[in-house]
This record gives sequence, C-alpha cells and structure tokens, in this order.
Amino acid sequence: MTRFGAPVQIGGFRLSVDLLVIGLGYVGLPLAREATKSGLSVVGLDLNRDSVAGLNSGRSHVGDISDADIAEMLASGFRATASEADVGAPATVVICVPTPLSAASAPDLTAIRSATETVGRLLRPGMLVVLESTTYPGTTDEVVRPILERASRLTAGLDFSLAFSPERIDPGNPHYGIRNTPKVVGGQTPSCADAAIGFYGKLCDRVVRARSAREAEMAKLLENTYRHINIALVNEMAIFSHELGVDLWDAIRCAATKPFGFQPFYPGPGVGGHCIPIDPNYLSYKVRTLGYPFRFVELAQEINGRMPGYVADRAAELLNDHAKPLKGARVLLLGVTYKKDVADQRESPARMIGRKLRSRGADLAYHDPYVAEWPLGGQSVRRADDVDAEVARADLVILLQDHSAYDLDRIARTARLLLDTRGRIAGPNAAAL
Ligand SMILES: NC(=O)c1ccc[n+]([C@@H]2O[C@H](COP(=O)([O-])OP(=O)(O)OC[C@H]3O[C@@H](n4cnc5c(N)ncnc54)[C@H](O)[C@@H]3O)[C@@H](O)[C@H]2O)c1
Repeated sequence: MTRFGAPVQIGGFRLSVDLLVIGLGYVGLPLAREATKSGLSVVGLDLNRDSVAGLNSGRSHVGDISDADIAEMLASGFRATASEADVGAPATVVICVPTPLSAASAPDLTAIRSATETVGRLLRPGMLVVLESTTYPGTTDEVVRPILERASRLTAGLDFSLAFSPERIDPGNPHYGIRNTPKVVGGQTPSCADAAIGFYGKLCDRVVRARSAREAEMAKLLENTYRHINIALVNEMAIFSHELGVDLWDAIRCAATKPFGFQPFYPGPGVGGHCIPIDPNYLSYKVRTLGYPFRFVELAQEINGRMPGYVADRAAELLNDHAKPLKGARVLLLGVTYKKDVADQRESPARMIGRKLRSRGADLAYHDPYVAEWPLGGQSVRRADDVDAEVARADLVILLQDHSAYDLDRIARTARLLLDTRGRIAGPNAAAL
C-alpha cells in the first residue's frame, strides 16, 4: 500500500501503485523508466495500443530508451496499458500527453482535457496529480483543476494535490537526463508544491520550487522562447553575413570566448522538434488574449520560418555559380531529422527544404542513418544507400544535420559542391549557409 492510496479492488486483486504515467512518449517513457529505477511501482497508460503492446513485449518506440531499458523496467514490475480500468490505485499521476497546435495555430488542449478526465475518474483523497505537458500559464488552474474537481467533487489543495512541472528532456543528450536536470515544480497551493517536491525528490537530484503552477508553466515557455529568439537572431545574421562576406560561425566562436554575458547559438536550416517551433505559440496565443501581440516570438517565427526557403535559394545560387540550373540537378540531402543524432523528424525543416527543391525541379535523394524511408508529399524520395558514392555523384550535397555518423572530412573531400547549413565543413567546394 502507498502513502496515500487506499487500494482498489480490480478483478479480485487489490492493486496499488506509486505512479501512473499518462502518455508514454518522449517525455512519459523516460519518466516511467527513472521512477522504476528509483524503486517506485509504475504503470503507464497510453491510448496507442501498438505502443502499449510493444512495451509489454519489450520493444521501445522512443529513441532515448532502448529495448534493454524496457526489459529492466518490466523486470521491476512496470507495465503499460491502454485501459483505464487496469491502472489500479495510483498515489501519484503524471500527465505527459501532447500539446499540439490546431489548424489555426492555436493551442490544442484536447489530449490534456481527455487525460485529465481520466484522472478525474481515478481521483481519490490524498492523490498527487502533476501536469508535465508544455502549455500556457494558467492551464493547470483554469483547465485541469476544474475538470478534476467537477469529476471527483474533491478540492485541489484540500483533498488532493495538484502541480505543474515542466519537462526539460533533451532527446539525444548523453549528459543530462531526468536525474541530473533540475526539476521545476509549482503547486496549486503551497501544500500541493510540498507533495510534488516530495515526489520528484525521489527521481531528481535537485527540485526547484516555483511560486505557483503559473510560474512553473511560464518558466518552460521562457526557456523555449529564449532559444527560439536567439536562434532567429543568428539565422537572420547568417543571411546578411553571407552577403557581407563574414564567416558568422567564426564570429560566434570568438564571441563565445567571453566568459560572461554571452551564450552561443548557431544558425541552421530552420527549427524543428516541438519545443522551439510549437511551444512559443502557446505563449503568444495567451498574450494575444490580452489584446496585443508577443512581438519577439512572432518575429522569431517569421525569421526561422523563412530559413528553409533561404536554403533552397542558396542551393540554386550555388549551382548557378557553377553554371548549373537547379532544375534537373542531382541534389543529395544529408540528415533529415530535426536534431543531430536522433531519429525524431517532428517539424523537421528538411521536409520544407525537400519540397521546395523538388518543386523547382531538383532530382532529389537523401541519406540519414536514422531514417529508412522519407516520403515527401505522398511521394517517396530516393534513399542513397551508398553515401560515399552518392556524395561523389551529386551535383550538390546539402548537409542539413551533422549526425556523428557522418565523416565530414571525407564528405568535404569527395563532394563536388557542398552547402553546409551547420558550419562544420571548410574546403574549396564547401559554402556556408
Ligand atoms: N519531446 C520532447 O523533447 C519534449 C520536451 C519537453 C516537453 N515536451 C512536452 O511534453 C508533452 C508530451 O510530449 P511528447 O514528446 O512526450 O509527446 P509524444 O507524442 O511522444 O507522446 C505522447 C503520448 O501520449 C499519448 N496520449 C495522447 N493522448 C492521450 C490520452 N488522453 N491518454 C493517454 N495517452 C494519451 C499518445 O498516444 C503518445 O504516446 C508535450 O506537451 C510536449 O510539448 C516534449
């Protein structure tokens, strides 16, 4: 039996668990693993039956979690389910469901609402409920709390604890994981914060108390917006540095030697993933409800959103300098995921770049060690299986993602013409963004 949980009767068994994780994706699954490692009993609930079946038979669907990790989790008692009836009596529930944008680029809280309704049906006195999904300030208090209170007739802060704790997971980062990344926690009330800090203290070396859930929600969006804006700054600088004949990467390298007051950000072909292109929209949406825009975010979106088009233009310009039209040119894209050394393709700018190049007549091929197939607008793009041969054969190679698997020196030696969007390759045939 857990600290708070009165055990429930399910199918004749009395089951109680320390933690229920709702949403077993990039965020929820690492959380479930860390909690299992820390000795907690953990159940995961996910609507995706394929993921659930995969996990229960030892297969991971998340890049940072291996099948061996899943085997360890299962051996420690972890199980996944797609059925709310099978979750037992959790002492703590953490919600890690997606927060996408609607067609009108507004926050889409459907998954948060539906997961919260599930929790409302499970809620009992003494339980701790935490939202980890990235969302705008006020969501925990204005969206999650009313659903829980209505469904359970219990009161947050009195009968159960409610908190927000932003996930800071950095996919592919070998140095920072859940344990050694400080965890920000904001409670609906101070006692809610105490309960959440007690829970995360078992999984994380350092827990940071926010004044309330709203500040914790804002902290996450501040972090993401800060990156978004600084990336936009260097992307805009990359465009005019090229025209001014300045090597911006070298300028950044020099500026980064300043031991205070400067943090380097690097230009690239556009922003991908969830945290940078999607999440700041949650904040600008909330600001717009006040009757004015969040101008920094909107400008950053405009600049970063322009980068794929800029890459396609630079490709055409480079080929033109070598007396070749883009139409009919063999163009090889290297690295189509949104981030180095990960398989995740969400919002990857490679997609827009590929579309633009193809619509201008390029004969497109791609290579990515993490991507076996890459359909674009319903049409598949040819995969270059023999990278070395394809690099030598292409009229233009575009390095979009500098995955560690790539031998950049060899690529620099063999490519006839190379557009390097990552500032990694120097050489007579290589051009920077
Ligand atoms: N991926 C990241 O690097 C990252 C980092 C920080 C924060 N976040 C935030 O964390 C949240 C989750 O992101 P993610 O990357 O883990 O998403 P994901 O798509 O990888 O996983 C979410 C999972 O939730 C499941 N799900 C959806 N609705 C459900 C419901 N009602 N009940 C049960 N399961 C449900 C889906 O089937 C999916 O498996 C988002 O708000 C995201 O912005 C993500």
